[in-house]
Amino acid sequence: MRRILVTGGAGFIGANFVRMVLSEQPDTLVVNLDKLTYAGNLENLAGFTDHPNYVFVRGDILDAKLVEKLVTDHQIDAIVNFAAESHVDRSLVDPGIFIETNVNGTLTLLKIALGKKLERFIQISTDEVYGSLGDTGKFTEETPISPNSPYSASKAAADHLVRAFGHSWGLRYNITRCSNNYGEYQFPEKMIPLMINNALGDKALPVYGDGLYVRDWLYVYDHCTAIWKVLTEAAPGEIFNIGGNNEKTNLEVVGLILSRLQKRTALIRHVTDRPGHDRRYAIDSSKIMRQLGWKPSVTFEIGINKTIDWYLTNETWLRHVVSGQYQQYYESMYDNR
Ligand code: NAD
Ligand code: TYD
Repeated sequence: MRRILVTGGAGFIGANFVRMVLSEQPDTLVVNLDKLTYAGNLENLAGFTDHPNYVFVRGDILDAKLVEKLVTDHQIDAIVNFAAESHVDRSLVDPGIFIETNVNGTLTLLKIALGKKLERFIQISTDEVYGSLGDTGKFTEETPISPNSPYSASKAAADHLVRAFGHSWGLRYNITRCSNNYGEYQFPEKMIPLMINNALGDKALPVYGDGLYVRDWLYVYDHCTAIWKVLTEAAPGEIFNIGGNNEKTNLEVVGLILSRLQKRTALIRHVTDRPGHDRRYAIDSSKIMRQLGWKPSVTFEIGINKTIDWYLTNETWLRHVVSGQYQQYYESMYDNR
């Protein structure tokens, strides 16, 4: 039996990964360690709580004693590290927690993975470590690291640490760098669920600047299948870019959401831009496609329809996540913008 410690498994991508593994990989034990910050939500794992191959532990990746105990007690052979502060806008307001969780938290896990001689450490990173592109070209695994936001700087620092543990002491690791994800269970601070939620409530859709920023969108399930392939098939020490080959401007995405929900484009409001906003991301995924035979299962058009349908049929989930704290977050970020 494969025995993995997933960190941050109550967040958006982590929860989708846990759901996929428990549904499709019967011979795998999943221990999910999550601090349940504002972004962690046990409702993302509804239906899996009592699964015989699943253990949930509320806790912090910075708590070395706890992590060590989990690794020992459950005879863990790999860590998949999703736990992070993940939102660029928040990192521009309060970068400190990004260093704590994303850098020091990863360091804590790395020391334990090395000390316990784990089979593998998988660091879930992001294409944002490469910085921003002009009108042409794509990020490859050889593109120099050049992060522009406190979020991406903290993720890049973690990537460097992972690599250094491999280089210095032989830690068996992989790093995955994926483009923007969308899909079920995404917290509505990120663009796609935020726009869906606002459109459903006939609220203004806040498009930063001219709205011509480009992201390369990948359906979250396809990110999860790529991570599984890396965990189970990749040689140690390899870094993999993961992307959907789906470049869209923000205005194109917002237009699609509005038309699908039969809402007026007059809801679009251009608001003050994000400082240092990366203009364009685009990923060259040819390495993972060639070496591991991975490919996305859906086009953007299918994935976005599935996602919108999910938000429509999971109104209770959405209502819970946009109550309380979220309202204050929204006001502080968008009022007077
Ligand atoms: P998310 O913000 O939805 O979830 C993060 C999870 O980590 C939450 O459940 C939170 O409670 C948990 N967490 C935070 N601090 C913790 C700590 N100290 N100890 C334990 N748990 C903690 O994030 P996401 O969008 O699911 O992203 C997951 C990972 O994927 C991140 O590392 C992110 O950098 C990376 N990534 C995200 C995207 C994207 O489009 N969302 C794209 C590429 C890479
Ligand atoms: P986001 O989902 O925050 O992901 P990232 O910044 O990590 O790429 O944002 C995606 C794009 O959408 C990005 O160009 C910023 C833009 N955006 C808006 O225009 N309005 C918004 O309210 C948000 C949250 C994002």
